[in-house]
Amino acid sequence: MRRPIVAGNWKCHLTSKDAVALVQQLRRELGTVHDVEIVVCPPFTALSAVAAQLNGSMIALGAQDVFWEPQGAFTGEVSAPMLVDAGCRYCIIGHSERRQHFKETDEQIHKKLVGALQHGLSPIVCVGETLPQREQGKTFEIVRAQLRGALNGCSAHDLERTVIAYEPVWAIGTGRNATPAQAQEVQQFIRQELGAGWDATPAETMRIQYGGSVTAQNALELLQQPDVDGALVGGASLKAESFVAIVKAVASARAVS
Ligand code: PGA
Repeated sequence: MRRPIVAGNWKCHLTSKDAVALVQQLRRELGTVHDVEIVVCPPFTALSAVAAQLNGSMIALGAQDVFWEPQGAFTGEVSAPMLVDAGCRYCIIGHSERRQHFKETDEQIHKKLVGALQHGLSPIVCVGETLPQREQGKTFEIVRAQLRGALNGCSAHDLERTVIAYEPVWAIGTGRNATPAQAQEVQQFIRQELGAGWDATPAETMRIQYGGSVTAQNALELLQQPDVDGALVGGASLKAESFVAIVKAVASARAVS
């Protein structure tokens, strides 16, 4: 059975001081949750401070992005060995905000994935369609192209360490989440694609998160879907109360499904 994974994407929010206060509260309130893997992804500037708070806890640290080269003359970039050094186990790759605002391509996303895997990070690769793409019936085509673009050439072993996050762009930060049936339909398709493109074993064991306006209210129903193995949470991860409630809802969804 796949262990659910809930990750908080703090985006461009929180100074180190505020990040430390948030993670201290999460540690206190989530210390007894063992059947859900919990990840927090602060901005780069708060990684070390948060890592110090997470020492000895079950909560893992993740970054929101990674550069593909390990080092060099690339002003402003942060590499996988640097993230490992800061205490990260995960990194988000190809978030739609990076695709949209920073024009990240599938090729760059693939290079980031390879760089992350080479240095021992577990990537969380984001895929998802825009509203016009959905309305034109192109959801599967877009998701397939993004998956192939990112994972092209990866081994089954690499895939076992990779998490996919299905995040329909129209659901991110809008308060309009995908329905459980919509999430399940696309996530089942993603698992089929993984099975067809690589082999059945990683496809069965890989975790596929849903992201886009996840709240404490909708998490339970989303997570009861057979191919929804966790959540990537933006806005609701910035407050301990809502993030804790989501993690607990995920734990209870798995207990009943
Ligand atoms: P949201 O963001 O939960 O605020 O919709 C999700 C994400 O961007 O990962």
